Amino acid sequence: MANKISAEEFFDDWSVKYDDLFKAPKSYVHYLNEAAKIFHQYNYHQGSILDIGCGTGLLSELLQGNFEYTGIDISSKILDYAAKRGYQTIHRSIETALPEIEDNSYDFVFCLGSLLFIEDVKTAVEHIYRVARQAILISLDETTEEYIKKFAVPVYNHSKITVKNAIEDYFILGFTSSTTGISIRTRLIYIEQNS
Ligand SMILES: C[S@@+](CC[C@H](N)C(=O)[O-])C[C@H]1O[C@@H](n2cnc3c(N)ncnc32)[C@H](O)[C@@H]1O
Repeated sequence: MANKISAEEFFDDWSVKYDDLFKAPKSYVHYLNEAAKIFHQYNYHQGSILDIGCGTGLLSELLQGNFEYTGIDISSKILDYAAKRGYQTIHRSIETALPEIEDNSYDFVFCLGSLLFIEDVKTAVEHIYRVARQAILISLDETTEEYIKKFAVPVYNHSKITVKNAIEDYFILGFTSSTTGISIRTRLIYIEQNS
């Protein structure tokens, strides 16, 4: 872990330019549009959304409907942008915030581009199932050895874990890292709680 910095430090620093990466002509980020596309196929138009590792709250720009957003994130600076988009914000780590959230307390739970930062993904996913009432959309990045070595923040490859009751479960080209130039595949998973 030599020369690595924390996710908090990295994303505080990147908060100002985060949205530009999404809109950049080089299209660094693909998984978010794909997640929105999946969600829209299931015709949900209202309800509460817990957005775990919400970043600037870009998700709320992509989903059409009348949703109330709550976002968990470790970076206070990135949460300032999410708050401007109308998010209720929880400035905590995913690992400490999730266990304190009550069962079935949000209609929809999203966790996009964030589980790669969590060492104990199994526990995080168990909490996601526990707190979601209707549907879940998560992404798992297939981080390569080179990316794990070169990226500034410690990250993990959880892309092979078993996920139960998935209705959608497939890989796309998820993103190209603007700092390392490495392209990463992302596994998108959609789950309905009553299926
Ligand atoms: C790649 S961004 C994804 C943001 C947003 N979900 C999106 O797709 O645009 C990852 C986010 O996870 C947050 N993050 C990383 N590790 C975290 C942790 N342990 N607890 C809470 N948030 C974390 C970062 O601050 C950052 O905002």
